[in-house]
Order: sequence, then structure tokens, then C-alpha cells
Amino acid sequence: MSEISAITVKGLIKSVATQEGELTILNGINMEVKQGESVAILGPSGSGKSTLLGLLAALDSPTSGEIVLDGEALQHMDEEGKAALRKRKVSFIFQSFMLVDTLNALENVMLPAELAGIDKAKEKAEAMLTRVGLSHRLTHFPNQLSGGEQQRVAIARAFICEPKVLFADEPTGNLDAANSQKVADMLFELNRESDTTLVLVTHDLVLAKRCERQLLMDSGELTEKSATSAQNESIESPVGLHSVEAS
Ligand SMILES: Nc1ncnc2c1ncn2[C@@H]1O[C@H](COP(=O)(O)OP(=O)(O)OP(=O)(O)O)[C@@H](O)[C@H]1O
Ligand SMILES: [Mg+2]
Repeated sequence: MSEISAITVKGLIKSVATQEGELTILNGINMEVKQGESVAILGPSGSGKSTLLGLLAALDSPTSGEIVLDGEALQHMDEEGKAALRKRKVSFIFQSFMLVDTLNALENVMLPAELAGIDKAKEKAEAMLTRVGLSHRLTHFPNQLSGGEQQRVAIARAFICEPKVLFADEPTGNLDAANSQKVADMLFELNRESDTTLVLVTHDLVLAKRCERQLLMDSGELTEKSATSAQNESIESPVGLHSVEAS
């Protein structure tokens, strides 16, 4: 793992207007993730994990605070700038897969590569799908694929542009134990090989433990802790711990 910063977050606040008044979802988040690191974000439902992931991936804008992604400050970027940044550097695996229903597996994986103008998109997509064990499912449409297969297509799609940072929101949330294991193996394998920074949200302690660091989100506040150890004494403290400054 390098010492180059992949993500730097300072004083991140996200508030939204609701019928009951202003709701603060994220309440002063500070975090630092190094290039090539794998980080799990754990925490109760409704604590703000997906909101944070969306902000880090430049899919949404904060109320205040700073995010620097691979050396680029998001703060003063307009929507076009953020879209360009996402295309070049970021992939996002959504819990609900978000595959395009009218495209088959191969076309779904090719799509981001074609949009990014990458050469030999079809060959690369085919290789990536073979990699995730789906060479026999290239022409299947999403509704002709199992949940685990769809998730693997989403992973192939997320990796085809060789992102600097990969965000995954509960990537194994809808999978059975066997498929969870397969998907997680793939994430870490591809993460290691391409030095991709991996930030994932999960309720799965086994998956969280495989990451180098675990962060805990609670009521919009993020702390660095071996969140898993609180619930499982046998889990050692993660190595390569970086401190999260208190806000
Ligand atoms: N646009 C919005 N308007 C109002 N409230 C919102 C909005 N977006 C999120 N929230 C609220 O903010 C809180 C955090 O939502 P978020 O989706 O980040 O939670 P989460 O930690 O990902 O939860 P889960 O584990 O259930 O996916 C929730 O209480 C949610 O209802
Ligand atoms: Mg969520």
C-alpha cells in the first residue's frame, strides 16, 4: 500500500430539508484513505453510510466540507466536472446491481468502457466476464441471470475501466453465503492486482474483517475502530490503522 492519499475528507456535513425541519445526516466526517487500501464502513441502518459513499463518489454534493479524490478537490467542481472525474477514476457497485435490463451481460460490461472511449471494449468485457466465471452467460439479459450472477456482472462492469477508487454499497447484501464468498474473493483479488482503492459498506462482519481497516458510522459520525472486535472477541485489531481526527 502506498502513502499517496486516495480520499481525504474534512468536516463533511450533509443536511437535508424535511417536513420536520432540517435533518443532519452526516455530522462532520473526517477521513483519510490511502491509495490501494481496503476500507469497510459498518454501522446501523439509517446511520448515513450510503449517503457518505454517494458523496465520496461525487454522485451527490455535501452541505459543507471538503473531499479530495485522487488529488482532485470536488468542492468547486460543477456537475460536468464531477461526471468527467467519475468516468475517469471511480466505479460504484450498487446494492441493487443497477444493470441495464435491455442489454445482455456482455453489453452491460462493455457500456462504461465504450463511454470512456476505451479500445477493444468487447474483448475486455469478455475477458472480465470470463474472470468472474460468466463466460457461459455473455448473452443472457439481467432477468435471465441469478442474483449472484447479476452481482458478478456488476463487478465486472465496475472493474473494466480500471478505476482508481471502487465504492461498493453492500456488494454481498443480496447473496447467499457461497456467492458472498465468491464475490468478496473477486473484489479483493481485483483490488490487489490493479491497486484499486476499495471502500465498501457492509453489514457482513466476515467481509469487513477482510478489509485492512474498519470504520464505524453512528448517527452521522464516523470513527475508526475495530468495529468487528466489539462483536467478536477473536478478531484482531486491523493492521495499518490510520487515525480519524475528531471533528
Ligand atoms: N434525501 C433525503 N431526504 C431526507 N432524508 C434522507 C435523505 N437521504 C437520506 N435520508 C435519511 O438519512 C439517513 C441516512 O440514510 P443512508 O441511506 O445514508 O443510511 P445507511 O446507513 O446507508 O442505512 P442502510 O444500512 O439501511 O442502508 C436515513 O435516516 C435516511 O432516511
Ligand atoms: Mg445504505
